[in-house]
Order: sequence, then structure tokens, then C-alpha cells
Amino acid sequence: MTSLHGSVVLVVGSTGALGSLFAKALEAEGATVVGAARDATAGSVAGDLRDELAAASIVEAASEEHGRIDGVIIAAGVVAFGPVGELSDATLAELFAVNALAPIRLIRESMPHLAASATDGREPFIVTLSGVVAETPTAGLAAYSASKAALAAFTTAVSRELRRSGIRIVDARPGHTETGLTTRPIAGTAPAFPAGLEPEAVVARVIRAIVDNEKDLPSTAF
Ligand SMILES: NC(=O)c1ccc[n+]([C@@H]2O[C@H](COP(=O)([O-])OP(=O)(O)OC[C@H]3O[C@@H](n4cnc5c(N)ncnc54)[C@H](OP(=O)(O)O)[C@@H]3O)[C@@H](O)[C@H]2O)c1
Repeated sequence: MTSLHGSVVLVVGSTGALGSLFAKALEAEGATVVGAARDATAGSVAGDLRDELAAASIVEAASEEHGRIDGVIIAAGVVAFGPVGELSDATLAELFAVNALAPIRLIRESMPHLAASATDGREPFIVTLSGVVAETPTAGLAAYSASKAALAAFTTAVSRELRRSGIRIVDARPGHTETGLTTRPIAGTAPAFPAGLEPEAVVARVIRAIVDNEKDLPSTAF
């Protein structure tokens, strides 16, 4: 069992539907949450994940705030819909910057802090939220699916390296969740989706996985 009580957890995307629920759930477990958001007034630390320097500055600011980081939850992301023939370079770049490159950089930048947490006798963790599209790439969501599959592949590959430093990474791949994300696409329009998962249930399932030392959260876990 991993105790969240007294741990310092960085939640990236803390203004989002899932990110804000993660912050609440972690605080209810006794964790201290450092939120990171695009808007400087909304989170404890700020950074636009389209900026390649944002990951380093977010992790540095978070570690300075409490002197350590014991967990990182990456709950920022953007979605885009539509046929590939209508996919603009700007949309493609933003999808990969926010959904793949920024999480990869956040993982890299947080590794020394989390390794120090392990050395101090804690059980540090990283959670990514790639989603079911990483397992089942979906028509109309081709570039979104590819950006999330890139992140999921990275988490699988880096997990052994992290394990050697005492750090656990859990990639969560829930299906469509009723957060309103599909109403905020950076391009295109969402098709009608069947009713999705409850955001609170998704967050509770991920928190349980952290506490129970689970190593993966495939779509079937939700
Ligand atoms: N909802 C689903 O069906 C579902 C399913 C599987 C996986 N996921 C993944 O779960 C994560 C959270 O999704 P959600 O449903 O909670 O969506 P959400 O409510 O729209 O939250 C998205 C978050 O990402 C942040 N963000 C977007 N672009 C950013 C940028 N350039 N720099 C910094 N922050 C940025 C947003 O900040 P702003 O408020 O500043 O825009 C917001 O905090 C996403 O990665 C999503 O792909 C969602």
C-alpha cells in the first residue's frame, strides 16, 4: 500500500475537470497538492505546455514550493476531431506538444525529484492519462489517437528505467468520460458519443490504483 498522507503531489492540468477532481481526492487522502495550470492565477505554478520549456519550469517551481515531489499526475490534454484531410499543421503540432511532448518532458524533469523521494523511503509515482484511444486508435480522432499512443508507448518503455529508481508509472486509459472535454476541441466537432464514464469514478479508480500499488490501468480497468 502507498500512503498518500503527507506526500507532495504535482497535478498538471489542475484547472481541468479530471485535474481538479484529482486535486480534491488527493487532499482528501492527506496529500499536499501543487497545481499546475496554463493560467497563472488559477494554479500554484503556471506554464503553457505548448512551450517546450514549460515542463522544466513547472517541475522546478513545484519542487521549490515544498522542497520535494512524491507524485506527479499529468491530467492536461487537448482533443481535436475531423477527417485527416482537414487536419491543419497547427492542430497537429498542438496535439503532439500538449498530449505527448509535454508529458514526456514532465516525466524526464520529475525523475530526479521522484528518485530522491524514493531514497527518502517514500513510494513515488507518476500517472499519465493516455486514454482508450491509445489502445484502439479511432477514426475521426486519428491525430489525437496517435498523440496518446505515443505517450502510452513512452510510459511502457520508460517504466523499467523508472523502476530502477524506485518510481512507479501508471498509464490510465479510460474510455470517454463525461468531463465536457469533447465540447472543447481545438479543431473540429465531436460526433454524438454514447454516455461516458463518471469523472468521479475514473478519478477514484486511479487513486485506488496508486494506493494499491497497481502498475497499469488499461481501459478494461474502468
Ligand atoms: N474526458 C475524457 O473522455 C478522457 C478520456 C481519456 C483520457 N482523457 C484525458 O484526460 C486528461 C484530462 O481531460 P479532461 O477530460 O479533464 O479535460 P479538460 O477538463 O478539458 O482538462 C484539460 C486540461 O488540460 C489543460 N491544458 C490544455 N492545453 C494546455 C496547455 N497548452 N498548457 C497547459 N494546460 C493545458 C487545460 O487547461 P486550460 O483550462 O488552461 O485550458 C485543462 O486543465 C486529458 O489528457 C484527456 O485527453 C480524457
